[in-house]
Amino acid sequence: MKLVVAVSGASGAPYAKRLLDFLSTEGAKHGVEADLIFTATGKQVWMQEIGAEPRYPFRVWKNHDFTAPFASGSAPYDGMCVVPCSAGQLARIAYGLSVDLVGRAADVMLKEKRRLVLCLRETPLSLVHARAITAVIEAGAIVMPASPSFYSAPKDMGELVDTVVARLLDRLGLPNELMRRWEGLAPRGKEPVEDA
Ligand SMILES: Cc1cc2nc3c(=O)[nH]c(=O)nc-3n(C[C@H](O)[C@H](O)[C@H](O)COP(=O)(O)O)c2cc1C
Repeated sequence: MKLVVAVSGASGAPYAKRLLDFLSTEGAKHGVEADLIFTATGKQVWMQEIGAEPRYPFRVWKNHDFTAPFASGSAPYDGMCVVPCSAGQLARIAYGLSVDLVGRAADVMLKEKRRLVLCLRETPLSLVHARAITAVIEAGAIVMPASPSFYSAPKDMGELVDTVVARLLDRLGLPNELMRRWEGLAPRGKEPVEDA
């Protein structure tokens, strides 16, 4: 599987880090190849939130370099995710503004009917955001808000982050065991016994 991973300038670099950690270890074992792009603000926010340069064995592209293979639909890529995805980036994708490599790569994914997952991080949402979200969903993208879940009882921030990244990997078609999956409520009379 060949993927494009883009990191834009929304809060949420830990989601991107966890995804890249997974792709460079488990993903690589299963033949996943990734190309990586940071927007200028994406890199800035990463440094603020992670505090260290991202170092991964992937091809890293400058966001103004349109010579990247995935800037053309003729290159065989399977999908792309933008994580985290800023509201601005989502709007540019929604309206086809291929002014940077992230936008162009996303535009290619949509026109070629390939998988595009946008891990949006913004709150609250304005009507402008809601309209752009509607437009990208209508065009075939998956909008996956970076909103963690609690039913798997995450014990720390890493496990909380995994509740988002696990679902992101699901949508990219990559099997993973990053979180405990919901298996329904325990049958009546068989509830787990609380510790004394
Ligand atoms: C520390 C920091 C956090 C930010 N968090 C968000 C955010 O959560 N969501 C968002 O849409 N924009 C956020 N922004 C604003 C974006 O970085 C800004 O709109 C930028 O133009 C996005 O550029 P890009 O889409 O090219 O990455 C943040 C900026 C900074 C500096």
